Amino acid sequence: MEDFKGKIAVVTGGGTGMGRELCRQLSREACHVAMCDMLVENMAETKSLCEAEAPPGTRITTHKCDVSVERDMQHFRDEVENSHGPVVNLLFNNAGISGGGSFLTDEREEWEKTFAVCWYGVYYGCRTFVPMLVAGEEGHIVNTSSVNGFWATLPNTPHTAYSAAKFAVKGFSEALIADLRDNAPHVGVSVVMPGHIGTSIALNSGAVLGKTPVLELSEQEVRTLRERIMQSSAPEAEAIINMSDEQIKQAMHDRAIGFRDNAPMTASEASAVILDGVRSNRWRILVGADAHGLDEKVRAQPEMAYEPNFWSFNIE
Ligand SMILES: NC(=O)c1ccc[n+]([C@@H]2O[C@H](COP(=O)([O-])OP(=O)(O)OC[C@H]3O[C@@H](n4cnc5c(N)ncnc54)[C@H](O)[C@@H]3O)[C@@H](O)[C@H]2O)c1
Repeated sequence: MEDFKGKIAVVTGGGTGMGRELCRQLSREACHVAMCDMLVENMAETKSLCEAEAPPGTRITTHKCDVSVERDMQHFRDEVENSHGPVVNLLFNNAGISGGGSFLTDEREEWEKTFAVCWYGVYYGCRTFVPMLVAGEEGHIVNTSSVNGFWATLPNTPHTAYSAAKFAVKGFSEALIADLRDNAPHVGVSVVMPGHIGTSIALNSGAVLGKTPVLELSEQEVRTLRERIMQSSAPEAEAIINMSDEQIKQAMHDRAIGFRDNAPMTASEASAVILDGVRSNRWRILVGADAHGLDEKVRAQPEMAYEPNFWSFNIE
């Protein structure tokens, strides 16, 4: 799909980050956009940004939907059909959260919700919208995985629910290539694997999981957090011993802000890479120099991939 003008795009997780920037860049090209999110205020802001920049006549619609709930997704589809008609051309299964890092110590509920958003969100997105893509003349599915779709950890931090889901997204998307070629050759598929992109994912994930914002944690909650960090191999484990509760809360909050503000690539730059990948019909879209570097390292030294300092190893 070389040109998005006049096409209809469905974007999940349009509230902030890469989803917001995809909505903005698509609508600037006169692509009609139907976005969903759970955080409706953020989505309303995205809509205003799109409307300020898009050519007149470009339709931008917002829809409240939890992508991990199939009936929500079906309701979203019905609303899209009412507002935009029976065909869509682009489906960005972008919504995601992080959580459920440890299989052993994190709450099962958080683990399963993270897996459900990151995997079932993509699966239900495809189940629900693929018939509308197939109904058109030309379609493209864009499923967002991660570098954690081929490297199942963070540096010195377990990341089990998210990685399991992102591996599933990558495997499913790759398996769709042959399936679509046989059964719907006018529909393409890409899997997106970003490295570190400056977004609010660390702030939004808690909100989607229904957690107390870190600055408002109770004494008991900070105690539990302190114990968990001290037991982990996280870089903060030693420093945290001498920190007050207030300092711990502030440090955790600053870390989430730092993830957004000190990243090697912005959400806008990442979205431009994703859309270029779709235009050139690439099924495999790595986003960021860190993602390219990690992909090369994991392929070169798979047995070393889970050694503690792998992130900083050089390829030999
Ligand atoms: N930021 C990164 O470094 C990075 C790296 C690799 C992959 N990713 C992936 O990129 C995608 C976009 O994330 P982002 O970094 O732009 O973060 P983000 O938090 O800015 O955007 C994700 C959006 O999805 C929404 N969302 C979360 N759960 C939802 C649900 N159940 N239903 C509907 N909407 C929901 C959030 O409210 C948010 O608006 C995610 O799939 C994420 O896992 C991000």
